[in-house]
Amino acid sequence: GPVVGIIPAAGRGVRLGETLPKAFVELDGRTMLDRAVHTMIDSGTVDRVVIVVPPELAGTPADELVGTGPAGRVTVVAGGAERADSVRAGLDAAGDARFVLVHDAARALTPPDLCARVTWALRDGKDAVIPVLPVADTIKSIDTDGQVTGTPDRATLRAVQTPQGFDVALLRRANGDAGDATDDAGLVERLGEPVHTVAGDPLAFKITTPLDLVLARALLASGTA
Ligand code: CTP
Ligand code: MG
Repeated sequence: GPVVGIIPAAGRGVRLGETLPKAFVELDGRTMLDRAVHTMIDSGTVDRVVIVVPPELAGTPADELVGTGPAGRVTVVAGGAERADSVRAGLDAAGDARFVLVHDAARALTPPDLCARVTWALRDGKDAVIPVLPVADTIKSIDTDGQVTGTPDRATLRAVQTPQGFDVALLRRANGDAGDATDDAGLVERLGEPVHTVAGDPLAFKITTPLDLVLARALLASGTA
């Protein structure tokens, strides 16, 4: 069966604070959504892509959103209130997929190689695959009063990125009662199923705040991304 990309792009981008929904904000003349679609297609490992957009934009023809190049391999569907609802809408449109790669539009500068690494791990027999990076900061757990309750050993911690890859049946099962969970792999962990890690990439950082937008535009202007 085919490998299908699912791009959740239905968020409002409240923390970014732009007027457009975040996935439609442009970086050097191309929207984050357009860039995320091309990352998946350019990896050479994804057959089709389902893009999940705010409901009012779901009637937009694919070529208006991603250009004529990949448009024939792109389906546009309406997202939901929480990210997990948007992922579910993507799964509903994934048809006969064998594997799905769920990739945030907000990680707009993700290199195609990272996408390929995730697909290869799936083809190698892993049912759930996530890209990770070491964490630079020490991380503390705290209670509701802000008192520190612990300091997990940083060497055992990883920051998680997308695309996250799954056997489609496993993610459909895991996503069923997702609630407001923001991490697809976490749902698979809840089922007691193993999650495999591959090396992430610093360029796959999530554009969340205005500071991230400054970084993304500087990386493009300097030819770093
Ligand atoms: N997303 C989605 N549907 C939602 C919420 C989020 O498809 N109901 C998508 C976003 O478009 C984004 C990805 O999930 O590509 C990661 O979410 P996040 O970075 O939190 O984006 P937003 O939810 O748009 O931002 P904010 O939380 O600041 O409003
Ligand atoms: Mg959000």
